[in-house]
Amino acid sequence: MFINLSGDKEITKLQKKVWLASPTMHGEEKKWINEAIDTNWVTTIGENINEIERLACAKIGRKHAVALGSGTAALHLAIRLAAVKLYGKPATGHGALEGKRVFCSDMTFAATVEGIVYENGMPVFIDTEYDSWNMDPDSLKKAFELYPDVRLIVLAHLYGTPSRIEEIVKIAREHDAVIIEDAAESFGASVGDIQTGCFGDYSVISFNGNKIITGSSGGMFLCDSSEDAKLIRKWSTQSREDAPWYQHEDLGYNYRMSNIVAGVIRGQLPYLDTHIALKREIYYRYKDGLNGLPVNMNPVPSGCTPNYWLSCLIIDREAMCRTSRDNSRAAYIPENGKSCPSEILETLQKFNADGRPIWKPMHLQPLYGSMDFVSVKEDAGADIFERGVCLPSDIKMTSQEQDVIIEIIRRCFE
Ligand SMILES: Cc1ncc(COP(=O)(O)O)c(C=O)c1O
Repeated sequence: MFINLSGDKEITKLQKKVWLASPTMHGEEKKWINEAIDTNWVTTIGENINEIERLACAKIGRKHAVALGSGTAALHLAIRLAAVKLYGKPATGHGALEGKRVFCSDMTFAATVEGIVYENGMPVFIDTEYDSWNMDPDSLKKAFELYPDVRLIVLAHLYGTPSRIEEIVKIAREHDAVIIEDAAESFGASVGDIQTGCFGDYSVISFNGNKIITGSSGGMFLCDSSEDAKLIRKWSTQSREDAPWYQHEDLGYNYRMSNIVAGVIRGQLPYLDTHIALKREIYYRYKDGLNGLPVNMNPVPSGCTPNYWLSCLIIDREAMCRTSRDNSRAAYIPENGKSCPSEILETLQKFNADGRPIWKPMHLQPLYGSMDFVSVKEDAGADIFERGVCLPSDIKMTSQEQDVIIEIIRRCFE
């Protein structure tokens, strides 16, 4: 099938769909799933779970890990743990952050903030910086001026690019605040020699189907305190006390990972570095291929090694055609020499490639519209959302397919 776009040559629609980021299996996953089935360890206990907890600790450099059903569950329990330690156990069991403000990344996936809300806390969204597309340290400082009593920060490393975490840790320490690192998208990324997930008091990774490696689903809580890890393990398995019957002193959750899911992750872990290398190639192929267009790739801050989970671009302001978005639809007016995220995404879709808008900042979400948002500059998150695109970044994409995608993007600007 051929589709005509302006330009000398027609571009052929991609035969196979190119996904944003889909699971890539290697076969070894089956070995560990089968072993779990053959030995009948198919529930939430087993060697696959033990092994992936050990391997994740070794990779990230933390002492303890607890495998859970999702990154969202891991974030929830990390936030609850921090809240209980800061403010005490809630009398009713739930709502450990009742009425408390928590500083939170603004341009992120919803799960970063959900745990705060599950615990009845009040998120205060901190604006994004252009240098890393992550939490802006200056806006965080301003937030502490406005709310000096805040003691908890939840921060994400978006798209596999580390935030300015060292600076943020310093600010947090000055205010005696606890940091939870949402490294769901950045497993394997580092700042200097230190892996993301090793900076915060608690941290979280995700093995959701689109992540750098996957378990089909799954997440993990990491920390350095055996007591904290023990408590998370207990809470995640319905908070059973050490008694011959079902005895409960804490609210429980059914959040533990299954040994089958852990088998998939065990089969994937040896390929983490391979996946990162392939993602890195994709990023630099886009960077080269889009050279000369009025766009930039998502930033790579100096001193950081991203895992390049998603390649993204941002269009120069002057090269944006007229565009508008409401809460569910986007419209644009095509213009020679200009383009916009909606045009690029629509065109990629026509040619069988899967891109996405940038994660819409939380302070722009109807659900969180009434929450505070702190920014020292202009609203950088809203601007990146308006001008940015997540590009197809699947590691099964061939270089020929990526060349077609690059050519499609080029034609959008003709
Ligand atoms: C930044 C971020 N945080 C948290 C999550 C939640 O992880 P999960 O899907 O495993 O619940 C995701 C992805 O899904 C994410 O991208």
